[in-house]
Order: sequence, then structure tokens, then C-alpha cells
Amino acid sequence: MKALIPAAGLGTRFLPETKVVPKEMLMVVDRPVIQYVVEEGLASGADEVVIINSPEKKDIERHFQPDPELVQTLRERGKGDRADEVERIGNLPVSFVYEKEPLGLGDAVHCAVEKTGNEPFFVLLGDVIVPGNDMLNRMKAISDEHNGANVIAVLPVPKEEVSRFGVISGTQVSDKVWKVDGLVEKPPVEEAPSNLSVFGRYLLSPRIMELLVDAKPTTGGEIQLTDALDQVLQEEEMYAMVIDPDEGYDTGTPQTWLDTNNRLYEKRFGK
Ligand code: G1P
Repeated sequence: MKALIPAAGLGTRFLPETKVVPKEMLMVVDRPVIQYVVEEGLASGADEVVIINSPEKKDIERHFQPDPELVQTLRERGKGDRADEVERIGNLPVSFVYEKEPLGLGDAVHCAVEKTGNEPFFVLLGDVIVPGNDMLNRMKAISDEHNGANVIAVLPVPKEEVSRFGVISGTQVSDKVWKVDGLVEKPPVEEAPSNLSVFGRYLLSPRIMELLVDAKPTTGGEIQLTDALDQVLQEEEMYAMVIDPDEGYDTGTPQTWLDTNNRLYEKRFGK
């Protein structure tokens, strides 16, 4: 099973910093943000992480390539721990496919179709770090309970913020699980069917890839993954796992990125 991480965006919210440095390479405490997301994907039992990159953002690829010279230099200088870490990162099962133009999340996900084949797959959006690394496993358990249904993570947000997200409608089936019967991308507040926002962790069936073949741009002029998720409901089941706000650390804006650095630093090195 593959874990897909779309990373072909322009990083506009971080300009001018992201003119040269890809947004995914911004440092969080001591490593690029995308490394957390890759490790989360692998912790879920995925056999490979597929990063959907833009051809312009080679630094992301360099980060995950082996660097035997650096490893050797570090060992010669007695820095064995650092050498081990550099070596480990260079050997993670990470591969790359390309989205030539950022046409929307649905288009980005579809770029990995040859990798996912006829299997279910995870999608992890890179703006949020999930330090617990267990969210996808919990989603997989819900999918297994429901004959391999699609499962997405959702976060309750204040009603006035719903227009920034995909939003679900559905019925609650247990404490933390809803059965989804509709999804809409960035609805106006008065049209939002709930306050449960699509968080950015998905476990999806291969049917989604087929639906994305014919997907057209909609909200914001972009090809939306949310539209394919809504469409698949005519044929397949989908469940939403409600998560706690503390499970995700946002890095999507300079302010939340800085907050996340502080929180994770405190968590790791705090007294
Ligand atoms: C994307 C998805 C949206 C989801 C959001 C989570 O939107 O399209 O459904 O709620 O991520 O961050 P974006 O933030 O890329 O506009």
C-alpha cells in the first residue's frame, strides 16, 4: 500500500522564503517538515511513500537521496549518530512522481495512479504534522471494520471557519465515527452541512483514481479531490473519523509554523 504526499504547490503563503526553498523543506525544530509526514506514512504500514513533486523542487528529492560521502565524512569525524540518521533518511522507501502544473489536489493525487495500481492508498497533506504517527492506523482499523470502506479524518472547527476546508455531511454512528453522505469543498458558512472539516489524512479506494481521470476544475478553479470523494459515495461507503485538535500541528502559515516549532521543541526538549 502506498502513502501519497502532494508537494507540488507554490508555497505562496511563505513567499519570499519559498522563492528558492520549497515549503516542504522548511525546518521544524531540526528537520524539514516533509520528513515528519514521510515518517508518519511509513509508520502506518505503507510500503512506499510517493511524493507528488513539481519538477522545480529538486531539494526535496536530494533530502531523501543517499549521500555516502557525507556519511563517511561524519563517521571519520566521530559523529556516528548523525551519520546513522543521514544514512537512514537516504534509505527510506520514498519515490517521486511529477505534477507539471499545480492544477489542484485532485490532479496531484491522480499523478500517482501508476504507483497505486489497483490498491487502496493513503493521502497525507503536508501542511499538518501528526506527531503521534497513529492516525492512519486508526483509520485503517475503521476501514477494516467496514469491509475496506473509504475513511477520512475530520476535525470539528468553529462554524465561521468552515469555508477554508472541505466539509462533510453524514450521520454519527459511534462516539468518533460518522458515516459520510456528502462532501463539499469550501462552502459558504450558511451552506455548510456541518462543522466537520476535512483534515488532510485519507484512506481511499482505487475507484477514486478512476473518478479523477474525468475530474473538472470547480471550487477556486482547481481540480478538487473533495469532488471525487463526493462522487464515490454513489458506489462505495465512506466513514469520517473525528480527531482531536491536539493531534495535528499546523505548519501552513508563518504563524502556525512558528507555533508548531515552539510546541514541538517544548515537547522534545522542554524541562
Ligand atoms: C485541502 C482540501 C480540503 C481540506 C484542506 C485541509 O484544501 O482540498 O478539503 O479541508 O486541504 O487542510 P487546501 O488547504 O489545499 O485549500
